[in-house]
Amino acid sequence: MKPVKVGICGLGTVGSGTFNVLKRNAEEIARRAGRGIEVAQIAQRRLNPQCDTGSTPITADVLAVADNPEIDVVVELIGGYTLARELVLRAIANGKHVVTANKALIAVHGNEIFAKAREQGVIVAFEASVAGGIPVIKALREGLAANRINWVAGIINGTGNFILSEMREKGRTFPDVLAEAQALGYAEADPTFDVEGIDAAHKLTILASIAFGIPLQFDKAYTEGITRLTTADVGYAEALGYRIKHLGVARSTAQGIELRVHPTLIPADRLIANVNGVMNAVMVNGDAVGSTLFYGAGAGQEPTASAVVADLVDVVRAMTSDPENRVPHLAFQPDALSDHPVLSIEACESAYYLRIQAKDHPGVLAQVASILSARGINIESIMQKEAEEHDGLVPMILLTHRVTERHMVEAITALEALDDVVGDVVRIRVEHLN
Ligand code: HSE
Repeated sequence: MKPVKVGICGLGTVGSGTFNVLKRNAEEIARRAGRGIEVAQIAQRRLNPQCDTGSTPITADVLAVADNPEIDVVVELIGGYTLARELVLRAIANGKHVVTANKALIAVHGNEIFAKAREQGVIVAFEASVAGGIPVIKALREGLAANRINWVAGIINGTGNFILSEMREKGRTFPDVLAEAQALGYAEADPTFDVEGIDAAHKLTILASIAFGIPLQFDKAYTEGITRLTTADVGYAEALGYRIKHLGVARSTAQGIELRVHPTLIPADRLIANVNGVMNAVMVNGDAVGSTLFYGAGAGQEPTASAVVADLVDVVRAMTSDPENRVPHLAFQPDALSDHPVLSIEACESAYYLRIQAKDHPGVLAQVASILSARGINIESIMQKEAEEHDGLVPMILLTHRVTERHMVEAITALEALDDVVGDVVRIRVEHLN
C-alpha cells in the first residue's frame, strides 16, 4: 500500500521532534498504522539544526501545504490563533485530515473547526494539545467512555510546575527558572501564557468539553496565575501538610460546570502533589472507575512528538472509515452536546487557605472567627505565628471547609475592613481531591 503523505507546518521544537520520531521509528509506525507515513512537504521559515530534513521538499508558505494535492494529512505546529486557524480551515476545506498540537487554537476556535471538519468528513486530531506526551485525551474520550465524569484536576502547564518546584526545592528566583524553561523549549512564545494560567486554561477547556460533553468555552474559564505566590505561603502550606500547585479544575455540579485554573493547596500525601519539574499529571474521577491519575512529560520535543505521531497513526487507521462512525472530536456525538452552563467563579465551591496579617491585640482572633461564622464558613484549622520582628504583625493562617466563593469574597472584604487587620488577606483555594 502506498504511504500516507503528511505535510508538517512548523519545524520548531515539536515539528523537528515529529520529523525525527517519524524517521527513527518508521518501521514500527508502519507496522502499527498498516501503511507507511511519509513526510512529503515541510513548511518552515528558518532552518532548524536539530533536524536533518534530507531531500524533503521545503516551502516557506504554510498555506502551500494545505493546497498541495499530494498531501493527505496536514500537521499544524506553527502555534498561535490567526495563521494557524487559516491553515487548518484551508486544509479542511481541501478535504485533508489535520493533526495539531495547538491548544489555543482548539480551545478558542475548536467549535468552528470541528463543525467544518464534520461537513468535510475529515478528522482533526489534537492529542498533543493537552499534557504533551500523556495520552489523556484518548483516555478520557475512549478509555473512560463508560463513566459519568465527576471531575478532572490537573497540573497541565509544565513551565509553571517547573517554576514552582524549583522555587520550593532550591529557593531559586522566578525569572531565573523561567529563563531556563524558555531555553529548554517548554515555555510558550509569550511566557505570560504559562505563568498567568492562560495555557492551562486552554488545556482545561479542552479536557472539560471531552469530560462533560459541552462545547468549548474558553472565555468562561476562570484563570489566576502563579506570579503573586510568595515563599512565605509556600512555607506555611508545607507546615500545614500541603503543597501549592497550579491546578486546573473542572467539576460537574448540579448547578453547572466549574472551570477554573489557580494556585491550589493539595494535601502533600496525594500523588499529584508530588508531581514536580516539567512533569504534568491529570486526575480524572468517574462514577464507575473512581479516581485515575495520568502522569508524564507535559512538554518538550519528543514527548509532544509522541502524541502528534500517535494521532497520525490514528488518522491513518481511520481515514478510510465512514466519518459517521469515527470517534467524535469532543467524545460525545455533536448533536448530543449538553448546554449545562459553565459557572462563574463566584458560584464555584472550594476550601480555602487564608493568611491574615494582624496587629498583636487581644480579641483579633475572635473577630476573625465571628466574621467567618456569620457567613457559615467553618474553620478547619488555625496556625498563628510569632509577631514579625520588622513590623510587629502576627501572621494568622486559617484553613476553612468548603464554601462558595461568593461567601468567601464577602468574608475577606469584612476581614480587610477590620482595624486590626493590615493589608490584603491572602486567599488560596484548597482541593483535597478525594
Ligand atoms: N508551555 C507549555 C507548558 C508547553 O509549559 O506546559 C506544552 O503545552
